[in-house]
Amino acid sequence: MQTGSCSISVIFLWLVTSAVLAKAVDNMEGNTAASKRPIRQSQSLCAGEQEYVHKRKQVVLESLRRLGINCAADSVPHIALLASGGGQRAAVGLVGSLYQMEKEDLLDTLLYLGGVSGSTWSMSSIYSDPQWSTNMDTAVSRLSGPGVELGEAFAWINERSKDEYFSLTDVWGVLTSAGIMKQMDLRHLSDEVSRNATNPYPIYSAIEKHCFSDGPIEGKWLEVSPHEAGFTELGLFIETSLLGSKFEGGELLEEKPEMDMVTLQGMVNHNKSVLLESNSSAERKGLFQHWSLELLAAVETWSQSLEDGPMKTHVSVLTKKVLPMIMKWEWGTTANFLYQYPDSMVPLCLRSEERFHLVDAGLLINVAYPPFLGDKRDIDLIVAPEYSAGNMFETLTLARDYAAEVRRAFPDINNKTLEERDWPKDCYVFEGKQNEPSIIYLPLFNRRNCKDAEEVKAKMEEFSTFQRPFSQEKIEFVLEVAKDNIKNNKETLLREINKAVLRQHNKRKSMQH
Ligand SMILES: *[C@@H]1O[C@H](CO)[C@@H](O)[C@H](O)[C@H]1NC(C)=O
Ligand SMILES: *[C@@H]1O[C@H](CO)[C@@H](O)[C@H](O)[C@H]1NC(C)=O
Ligand SMILES: *[C@@H]1O[C@H](CO)[C@@H](O)[C@H](O)[C@H]1NC(C)=O
Repeated sequence: MQTGSCSISVIFLWLVTSAVLAKAVDNMEGNTAASKRPIRQSQSLCAGEQEYVHKRKQVVLESLRRLGINCAADSVPHIALLASGGGQRAAVGLVGSLYQMEKEDLLDTLLYLGGVSGSTWSMSSIYSDPQWSTNMDTAVSRLSGPGVELGEAFAWINERSKDEYFSLTDVWGVLTSAGIMKQMDLRHLSDEVSRNATNPYPIYSAIEKHCFSDGPIEGKWLEVSPHEAGFTELGLFIETSLLGSKFEGGELLEEKPEMDMVTLQGMVNHNKSVLLESNSSAERKGLFQHWSLELLAAVETWSQSLEDGPMKTHVSVLTKKVLPMIMKWEWGTTANFLYQYPDSMVPLCLRSEERFHLVDAGLLINVAYPPFLGDKRDIDLIVAPEYSAGNMFETLTLARDYAAEVRRAFPDINNKTLEERDWPKDCYVFEGKQNEPSIIYLPLFNRRNCKDAEEVKAKMEEFSTFQRPFSQEKIEFVLEVAKDNIKNNKETLLREINKAVLRQHNKRKSMQH
């Protein structure tokens, strides 16, 4: 096996780690952060995101001008593309959708990009290029490129396994990052704060397992941006670089190096689907067990391909570390920044646990609607390419119910439309009136590319969420389908962008009165 490349990557990791530690020391020396409260409580945007959005609006404005859309500088619409989950189908689909958005010159109209589960695999991968929005060809060709050397992936896992918060998500992260996205992404999300506004602002999501089971809805959804990580509904946030550091009673106890994108990707991604219907925690535990064993099987398949030697040793270390965790279900473990937080607004399911157990947000809703509803980001238009398995429109009806529960505006969904779920159109517009965002909903398999409901079903099976990594042919097929969906609906997108300008303009006007 590639023991040579393995030792190179160990050195590389050592360099990265040293750089991170050096930075942490720097931070301690010039410590200005200590005087600031480490946990921000607010329902508004943090200063960093505000500043980014302000700069990004200039890019959006220029793009609208190129498209011939009239827009005043103070009425730039807030448009978000929210990509659904759906394993590799979603990861590849999102690359196709964004590629075509660039070709149609629509990509720069986006202020935000939000992902869940499978779509976050490709999100974190494309954002490794600081100028990806101008360069989607590269992202497309990376999907077809050679994979990461096994040695590099294992070396990374070995390093991570020394950390006290090493968990199965690290293994999952490396499986998706190296196996599917073909890269090991060792940068940190917070590094992106220094970037210019070439790309839409990214928001990742996860949910907290303790509160997910029986806690209130306010304690479930966790959003992570380059600037901040925290609970959407509670409005409690820390700087993203502190995710994983130890807190108690609202104070920062011990700063830890920030997790890299591979770990983060593992955090926000787990097998889910079924959990939506399973209500009892016993049932969920059974499912976690099932997935864990599958994961272990995958690791064993890897190790079988190895010859005797140092690599084989790595792997046995790995299975010795991983196996006990599988027995204890240590998924997505990291330090809980709300541990013993001195405020009863934080549900007990969060306050009482020293550690978080973060799981795939797709368990709750397979599209990241929560961070984009309400006044905070004031979204006018949501472009929602739908790559989910299961019932068509389910992400929408779940988001509608969520919105009602937390009292956020959400557009009407006509019951007649829901009847088309087995053979959906390729594009639906759910129109918002005043404060509700409009939603452009774009099912991957639909009436335009499938002749009937049977074919939709067959396509979903062929490209099912849970299977070995796609062949080159399958990757190309999904890419083309996703591209076509954008190309074929350009007129609708333009029409709704025009309306979004108007809506933002009217909001501004009514605020002045
Ligand atoms: C961002 O920086 C890159 C590289 O320096 C530059 O080419 C690009 O024009 C900048 N974009 C914006 C929107 O400022
Ligand atoms: C879970 O609860 C919902 C409503 O509370 C119910 O409709 C559904 O059948 C339950 N699912 C299972 C698997 O028990
Ligand atoms: C995910 O869960 C489903 C349903 O339990 C299972 O069939 C599938 O094999 C699992 N896949 C992975 C990668 O864990």
